[in-house]
Amino acid sequence: MTSQTEADSACGCGSNKKGCTVNRRQFLFASGAATFTVMVTMNAGSAGAKQVPALVTSYPRKLVAKLSQLEQDKPVSFEYPDEGDYAASMIVKLGEEAGGGVGPDKDIVSFNLTCTHQGGSLEDTYVASDKALGPCPLHLSTYDLTRHGILISGQAYQSLPQVLLEIDGDDVFAVGMFGLIYGRQDNLKA
Ligand code: FES
Repeated sequence: MTSQTEADSACGCGSNKKGCTVNRRQFLFASGAATFTVMVTMNAGSAGAKQVPALVTSYPRKLVAKLSQLEQDKPVSFEYPDEGDYAASMIVKLGEEAGGGVGPDKDIVSFNLTCTHQGGSLEDTYVASDKALGPCPLHLSTYDLTRHGILISGQAYQSLPQVLLEIDGDDVFAVGMFGLIYGRQDNLKA
């Protein structure tokens, strides 16, 4: 049988207070991040294949723009997936189909605004004629927004992280991130 002391220390909230009943799962729900358990197949295709539970923390779903208010080549800034360091991001209607683009013309895309080289800010560097972000003010890296933010030129060697979008009626939501944000080991930990 589990003693009260054992139950307290197992709650996972780190408070070590007697009677604390908040576990990690409840904490994450309370903080806005959704967690759920999925079954993952280990060693798939081999005789030793087995299903094991894995805890997944999903990205927040954040309303970032109204479809009807987005104008071509007019970026709109927001922060995602949180308001911590390097979260500055932008959404833009390119006017031409793009990788990961949403909307009727598949031309609405969104990217993090921190250069993957050494963290230069790409704020206000959108170039409509090239559908690109850059050059970065530090070492001139430039990224192609029609092709998932791959590098066009400059010092960086990683693509710009792309914010994944979803449309519901007139609402455009950020729902995830493709690529690691500069300066983070985990996109969900600022
Ligand atoms: S920090 Fe952007 S190119 Fe170096």
